[in-house]
Amino acid sequence: MSTVKRVAVTGAAGQIGYSLLPLIASGGIFGPNQKVALQLLEVTPVLPALNGVRMELEDCAFPLLTEITCSDDPKAAFKNADLCLLVGSKPRGPGMERKDLLQDNGKIFIGQGRAIAEVAGPDVRVVVVGNPCNTNCLIAMHNAKGVPADRFTAMTRLDQNRAKAQLAGKAKKHWSTVKNVIIWGNHSNTQYPDWHHATIDGMPAQKAVNDDAWLTGAYLKTVQERGKAIIEARGKSSALSAAQAACDHARSLFTVTTKDDWASLCVISDGSYGTPEGVISGFPCTTDGKGNWKIVQGLAMNDFSKQKAAVSWKELVDEREMVKDLLG
Ligand code: NAD
Ligand code: LMR
Repeated sequence: MSTVKRVAVTGAAGQIGYSLLPLIASGGIFGPNQKVALQLLEVTPVLPALNGVRMELEDCAFPLLTEITCSDDPKAAFKNADLCLLVGSKPRGPGMERKDLLQDNGKIFIGQGRAIAEVAGPDVRVVVVGNPCNTNCLIAMHNAKGVPADRFTAMTRLDQNRAKAQLAGKAKKHWSTVKNVIIWGNHSNTQYPDWHHATIDGMPAQKAVNDDAWLTGAYLKTVQERGKAIIEARGKSSALSAAQAACDHARSLFTVTTKDDWASLCVISDGSYGTPEGVISGFPCTTDGKGNWKIVQGLAMNDFSKQKAAVSWKELVDEREMVKDLLG
């Protein structure tokens, strides 16, 4: 067993936090042989509730969990962190789009980006979950002076998992057999869940599904609007599935992901595939197991795919423009 991994989680007493902490403490990110310390951040009024979460974590007696700290100070929470999961922020309610949260949530990521630069571990990795996660990630990245930009990622894994489930259901196969879905662009309703390179049980997804009208219509819309459908059904935004996706995303960074089933990560764009440079956008990525990712290159994009992705890329540029004063 190697030295303890320090995982900071913001918004730790919130809905996602409540589902995410046990996943981390039971080895969901770093595996069954790696001890973890949890460094939890909440806003001051929520510290009593966070203390209750701490008590419950203790009562779970997780073999891998060595330490739990609770704080309302980002510099305490991010101190020497190997991984920062930035969840804490307002969720949207019915009738809102995720970008409507920028006004309230964007500024959180200025201070947190700065604190990460100041106190986090030298090899820190950051995963932004709080919405709108792509642009919040951009804000944190710009404010974390001295931390390499490629340490920052935002979460579109939930969309990837959703896309897999939809494709599997249509093809009447298990979702574990669906590989190589790509989520291009923004974690918003403009995202493009591309099936053109996906396979289901080894067969091209398009062939396995055998319904192009469904792929270009109901499938796209269902994945794009799944967050809204969950809010309408539950009265609250997704939490269990979001926590699982955050865990999957982080685990992808720390395990080897190959071209056999790439991870859809939102990372800083280098212009690949015509994505505007500098925005945090969804790409198919491979990972080396040490926290490093690479965008998969050389995939064909037909006119349909280019047009769909371009809509989402434009939205990311528009969001960047909206927060230009927060970019440090
Ligand atoms: P929640 O309201 O249940 O919990 C959020 C918690 O964050 C609260 O306890 C709040 O006190 C805390 N918080 C707020 N500001 C904070 C700050 N500055 N520092 C530390 N903590 C802070 O919300 P939730 O359902 O857990 O969702 C959290 C965020 O995740 C929302 O923005 C939601 O939209 C987003 N989300 C993203 C995805 C995704 O796929 N990227 C999926 C689901 C939810
Ligand atoms: C989701 O996709 O479920 C989350 O981003 C929450 C939301 O606002 O839709």
